[in-house]
Amino acid sequence: MSAVLETPVPDFRPMREEDIAGVLAIEDSAYTHPWGEGIFLDCLRVGYSCWLMEREEEIIAYGVMSIAAGESHLLNLCVKPQLQNMGYGRMMLDYLLDLARQHKADMAFLEVRPSNRYAIKLYRNSGFDEVGMRRNYYPAIIGREDAIILARSLV
Ligand SMILES: CC(C)(COP(=O)(O)OP(=O)(O)OC[C@H]1O[C@@H](n2cnc3c(N)ncnc32)[C@H](O)[C@@H]1OP(=O)(O)O)[C@@H](O)C(=O)NCCC(=O)NCCS
Repeated sequence: MSAVLETPVPDFRPMREEDIAGVLAIEDSAYTHPWGEGIFLDCLRVGYSCWLMEREEEIIAYGVMSIAAGESHLLNLCVKPQLQNMGYGRMMLDYLLDLARQHKADMAFLEVRPSNRYAIKLYRNSGFDEVGMRRNYYPAIIGREDAIILARSLV
């Protein structure tokens, strides 16, 4: 049997409140400044698109996106650190962008730290271009860090 057939295909499903503990474990291990439980709860309660990618019932990635007035804003995209650089980030991103299209969004926006070179590579290779900069947007280990604003058309 080939290695490809032995690798389970990930499933996507909406995040629920009871998933938040598992999501937080990944969030805490993947970010220097992770979101807390309250932010995920708020995202679920306001009806943002919060999705998980699972492999054999293990959460391996998740994403949070708001969609309104023809625009989608990617607010979080994260892959379990041990499984990064294996294509899951791109799969999760493609899934969310397809969802945004289904909800009639014609533009996608996101913010990223200039120091996050793998995320920037992922987004640029997925068709995002820089459209602006927010100065001192993110907390950093020392002081604050700017945010690059990226955007792409979904049509
Ligand atoms: C950013 C993130 C979502 C990317 O997901 P991923 O599954 O690791 O990335 P993929 O395997 O889909 O690869 C995407 C691109 O980044 C490159 N990349 C990712 N990790 C890499 C690594 N450690 N070394 C070299 N290249 C890497 C891949 O080669 C690929 O490049 P390509 O577009 O030329 O093919 C993931 O690293 C992550 O969760 N990081 C922590 C949370 C975070 O920073 N999220 C983004 C917030 S804006």
